[in-house]
Amino acid sequence: MDKILLYLLERDDFVSGEEISEAFSISRSAVWKHIESAREKGVKIESIARKGYKICEIPEDRIIPEYIYKLIKDKVSLEIVYLDSVDSTNDYAKRNIARFNKKETLIITDNQTSGRGRFDRKWISTKGKDLTFTFIIHPNVDIGKFYHFTIISALSVFDSIIPLLNENQLGRLKIKWPNDIYYDENKLCGILSEIISEEARINSLIIGIGLNVNSSKNTEGAISLSGIIGEKVERHKILAEIIIQFQEYLSEYWRGEFKYIFNKWKKNLKNLGNFVNFSSGGSVIHGKFLDVNEDGSIVIEDNEGKHCLYAGEFY
Ligand code: BTN
Repeated sequence: MDKILLYLLERDDFVSGEEISEAFSISRSAVWKHIESAREKGVKIESIARKGYKICEIPEDRIIPEYIYKLIKDKVSLEIVYLDSVDSTNDYAKRNIARFNKKETLIITDNQTSGRGRFDRKWISTKGKDLTFTFIIHPNVDIGKFYHFTIISALSVFDSIIPLLNENQLGRLKIKWPNDIYYDENKLCGILSEIISEEARINSLIIGIGLNVNSSKNTEGAISLSGIIGEKVERHKILAEIIIQFQEYLSEYWRGEFKYIFNKWKKNLKNLGNFVNFSSGGSVIHGKFLDVNEDGSIVIEDNEGKHCLYAGEFY
């Protein structure tokens, strides 16, 4: 994290080189190096003699973690790790978990080269256009509560997208059990949650989120936010909103308000009450999607009766 960049972002006005060098006890040429390094990342910084430096533009194709800090800082305390490129933010989180096992952390990259989805599928995203990130949290709860965090993450993304939609689009955004976000029949966001546990307790949860933001999704069954609303979406702002929502839901959860979160998730579930096809552990069930339980499992009723299922997917 570049503290000088953060300082400039927070002031949002011209700041003299002298003021910066005094505030951080560094030389004027060291200040200049920070300014140049920010410019290399695509941050547009105006410099005027006797007035100093002012940030005038944040790049669209590169996440600037300092800007995310600025957007979330009054509400959330979170460590942010930005990587230019990585195989998978989930795999990176797992490989380095010892480094992150104290604090809630967000790993974000602009270029994920081997993104993974559920059931060993690939997750493809476009460099500098989509969002690929992973939350690391340490809930220290019973493993049976795993789905609670899946529900919280899906709802956080869902709620962050809602303000971008118009009235006609609103009802078309749904959560596909357990935590995909769909717009009509097209996937907008996928979440891969992984557990690091000791006996039956969750030590750390790795929650990887892939959100199609500004890419032109040509694959069948996929859509991006800009594809829905017809204009570019500011990735920094939507990411900051997701982080804030996630934190708020977590706080509500720890205050014992899971029932409220659960009901909100349930209300926005895709296909609840409809006849569905569901595949689980190699077998397929055709029946009515009757209900969801508070532990996150689903209830499907077919000719043989009711089935309570924890794993699998609708297709
Ligand atoms: C799915 O829909 O199957 C889940 C997709 C999850 C993709 C995200 S992108 C960030 C994180 N890193 C990964 O390798 N996967 C998740």
